[in-house]
Amino acid sequence: MCGIVGYIGPDQAADVLLAGLRRLAYRGYDSAGITVVGDEALRTVKRAGKLDRLEAAVRETPLVGTIGIGHTRWATHGAPTETNAHPHSDCTGRISIVHNGIIENYQALKAELEAQGHVFTSDTDTEVLAHLIEREFKGDLAEAVRNALRLVEGSYAMAVVSQDAPGVLVVARQHSPLIIGHGPDAYYVASDVPALLHRTRRVTYLNDGDIARLTRDGVSLWGKDGSPRAPQIVTITWDVSAAEKGGYRHFMAKEMHEQPSALVDTLRGRLPASDQAAILSELEMTREELQKVGQVILIGCGTAYHACLVGEFALEELAGVPARAAMASELRYRDALITRDTLAVVISQSGETADTLAAMNRVKEMGARVLAITNVVGSSVDRAADKAIHTNAGPEIAVASTKAYTTQLSMLFMLALAFGEARGHLVPERARELRAAMRNLPEQAAQALAQEDVVNACASRFRGAHGALFLGRGANYPTALEGALKLKEVSYIHAQGYAAGEMKHGPIALVTPECPTVAVAVPGRVYDKMLSNMQEVRARGGPIIAVGVEGDHDLESYADAVIRVPRTEEVFSPLLAVLPLQLLAYACAVDRGLDVDQPRNLAKSVTVE
Ligand code: F6R
Repeated sequence: MCGIVGYIGPDQAADVLLAGLRRLAYRGYDSAGITVVGDEALRTVKRAGKLDRLEAAVRETPLVGTIGIGHTRWATHGAPTETNAHPHSDCTGRISIVHNGIIENYQALKAELEAQGHVFTSDTDTEVLAHLIEREFKGDLAEAVRNALRLVEGSYAMAVVSQDAPGVLVVARQHSPLIIGHGPDAYYVASDVPALLHRTRRVTYLNDGDIARLTRDGVSLWGKDGSPRAPQIVTITWDVSAAEKGGYRHFMAKEMHEQPSALVDTLRGRLPASDQAAILSELEMTREELQKVGQVILIGCGTAYHACLVGEFALEELAGVPARAAMASELRYRDALITRDTLAVVISQSGETADTLAAMNRVKEMGARVLAITNVVGSSVDRAADKAIHTNAGPEIAVASTKAYTTQLSMLFMLALAFGEARGHLVPERARELRAAMRNLPEQAAQALAQEDVVNACASRFRGAHGALFLGRGANYPTALEGALKLKEVSYIHAQGYAAGEMKHGPIALVTPECPTVAVAVPGRVYDKMLSNMQEVRARGGPIIAVGVEGDHDLESYADAVIRVPRTEEVFSPLLAVLPLQLLAYACAVDRGLDVDQPRNLAKSVTVE
């Protein structure tokens, strides 16, 4: 997974490309490079490592020209070296290409091209595209791209320039996101909107199979079947500051603290005081259709999968509908029992996660109706679902997902409420109480986040820790998993999330004074059980940090430190209980001086399998 940019206009392309890449670095940051079309030749500079290295190199050797392409890489084929960095070139050096995705048949294509005399210089799958275009080029770059792509299997978002097609930039998309930005006298290309917002708000989302030719005079666009089509332009309404750090040290901090307002945006218009059907009309499902749903399967990866687990609990609890959460990467290769009365709820912040898309297509083929919950309008999941509802959380830039998760949970709670009412599982009085509790969640989230000082003090307990355990039960078992995932990914401390009742079946052997345990002990039917599990850990010398609710003073005698969140309904408590765990992971990472927003080996959206 990578980020690509392109520019054609009156300004120096290198400046525009580097500014765009900076905003796409969350998509991958193993290496970066740009090509600028000069008067005499294409000029390419690339560097392994983060973007700063490329910026320094371009400062030393300025690239002059007003057309160019750029790339920030997350390695799939070939090590993250300078040779494997994009842009890649053909044998003549007259064609330059950037690509995001995977060319699945690249080995066969490479062998064929090598037999025809083409010489490869990198280990990447992308380089075959450059040589294929070289072979197919007869004077029209768009035509050469079209002919080359006919031979290609896999996924791509690509941008290409050629010394022999002056003033032209060609782009194509298949299963990888790509957008064109329209300025007053310039055009832009990017994998994602934040890369363009400093230049334009008017964008065209390309569809699978689209090829476009950009010149200073306009955009020509051809669809999958080769027929021309006018580019559809939509206006992005996000504030540009939403894509930047807004005064926080890291995007992760900014995004954690945006959660109260993000939740307001998610709930807006969907929870009116009296009209219980508000969300139903958005779902475009009638009461009868909801009643006929035989099972719900919730599909996602990573943090989104943890949201699925919370959704499973909420749907069973509030709606009495059989529900199960499935990891997309597993589901896509299983013969799951999907029936025509199955509703698949597909959860993805980015809407571009390859495993999630594959699992979604599979259950769709098997007859399930697909409802997507995504944060990115126009994303692949958004467009491929039968119906999509948007979390409206604004762009999430930090690799570690925070506001996407809590807004996904709030959406799932609304869904479970709608189901519960439609199926008669919730009496109106209880539904009213639950909606009232939901309306309090944004304000309560702000109160929970205000505990940052208490959390920071707890973070010092993780200095020198050999590992950490996160325990939860019932509705908050997924909270334990999510707390452990957050700590692992940003602070690199090994952490394990467990259903607390499972401790004595093995993991309790890990308990030592150097292994802090974080226990989610909020009120609910398993509260007393949770206290017993905490005692078991304490009896073995393990330090305990408890996440409990305001006013619960019993917890002090079970834990070494207590972090408090406001009280809410048990079923909604995962949304509040996870907040201190996000803060904790962040504090540990900052304490260790780590790159919080771009943890090693990770990338924001995993668009390859
Ligand atoms: C963890 C994290 C990942 C994502 C996962 C799915 O903090 O961000 O686990 O949740 O890669 O991504 P989306 O939601 O974009 O499909």
